[in-house]
Amino acid sequence: MKVNNEYSKLKKSYLFSEIAKRVKNFEKENPQANIIRLGIGDVTLPIVDAVVESMHKAVDDMSKKETFRGYPPEHGQDFLLEKIENFDYKDRGLNISKDEIFVSDGAKSDTGNILDIFEKDNIVAVCDPIYPVYVDTNVMAGRDGKIVFLETSSENDFCPQLPKQKADIIYLCSPNNPTGTTMDKNSLKAFVDYANENDSILLFDSAYEAFVTDKNLPKSIYEIDGAETCAIEFRSFSKTAGFTGLRCGYTVVPKKLVRNGVSLNELWARRQATKFNGVSYITQRAAEAVYSKEGREQIESNIAYYLNNAKIIAKGLESIGIKYYGAENSPYIWFKVPDKFDSWSFFDYLLEKANIVGTPGVGFGAMGEGYFRLTGFADSDSTKEAVERIKNLSF
Ligand code: MLT
Repeated sequence: MKVNNEYSKLKKSYLFSEIAKRVKNFEKENPQANIIRLGIGDVTLPIVDAVVESMHKAVDDMSKKETFRGYPPEHGQDFLLEKIENFDYKDRGLNISKDEIFVSDGAKSDTGNILDIFEKDNIVAVCDPIYPVYVDTNVMAGRDGKIVFLETSSENDFCPQLPKQKADIIYLCSPNNPTGTTMDKNSLKAFVDYANENDSILLFDSAYEAFVTDKNLPKSIYEIDGAETCAIEFRSFSKTAGFTGLRCGYTVVPKKLVRNGVSLNELWARRQATKFNGVSYITQRAAEAVYSKEGREQIESNIAYYLNNAKIIAKGLESIGIKYYGAENSPYIWFKVPDKFDSWSFFDYLLEKANIVGTPGVGFGAMGEGYFRLTGFADSDSTKEAVERIKNLSF
């Protein structure tokens, strides 16, 4: 028997597991500390009323013979697919249809699982810094050594530049995790053209699209001409509607997306039908309610709350002369740590001296060294308190 040796090429633990471990140790040694968590991008507001109501009804449905549901349909329940198709695409003038949408348990799993439909010897381009799942899942799939990094830094305002060598699969995340920067239509168009010219595939993670308030910025890759022949889009209800604990998202694989004469939509449908049994009826009813009038209003107010937190942090940093990125159209604030620190020593310093948890930039890639990420997802009072604590530190 042999275990998958590719796992030995990974970092010892997943970034957020490592942080959780360090915080737990700190808590054990400092039980009195009032810790403020601005590390992992986990939501803190409860599920909104419209969604809760819909879930209650769905539980009742499951209790009656006439309305009980067993295995969900492979793509997802029609009532949810229709809402996604209409609200997220058709209403915005985008031609995506139900049979191009696949409901899943979230963007994290899908961005990793999608690799099942691609050959191992593809060259994969990922931004650096970036959400570590893209890199780790490729290493697990045997692509260590086949990953090229698109370095972003203060020199290019953390905006991804086209690969210098041919890349077959390119991940983009906008609004970006971790830097909070958002790609405009022109920069996305350059990637779409590159992908179409080079027969590459774009994997576009737009888990944070709900935070885009600037009307000129794209929320979907399909707002860009030509994207339907080169891009797969990942969306999530986690940050949009507070579903981090409920689990629901979806992936769009357009029918026009064909490589070597093979439909990627058909491949993904085949993969999902074999390895995934869908999202629970109750959760899909919950997601459906996100699109009701009440649901949309309630969710919008939650997003505004998190964006306001991000602004509070950004202003606080600015007031002590720290340059930041993000915080607009994004829940993340990304900044350079004071000179005497690196990312992890700043993490320790902030935890020890201010009892604040953040995320070390280097955890998102080598280019993140010397940077740090905070989130707007905490409760508003704690966010204000955290900013005061940071202002009182001496760097
Ligand atoms: C993050 O903090 O980067 C995210 O919450 C992680 C995730 O969405 O899986």
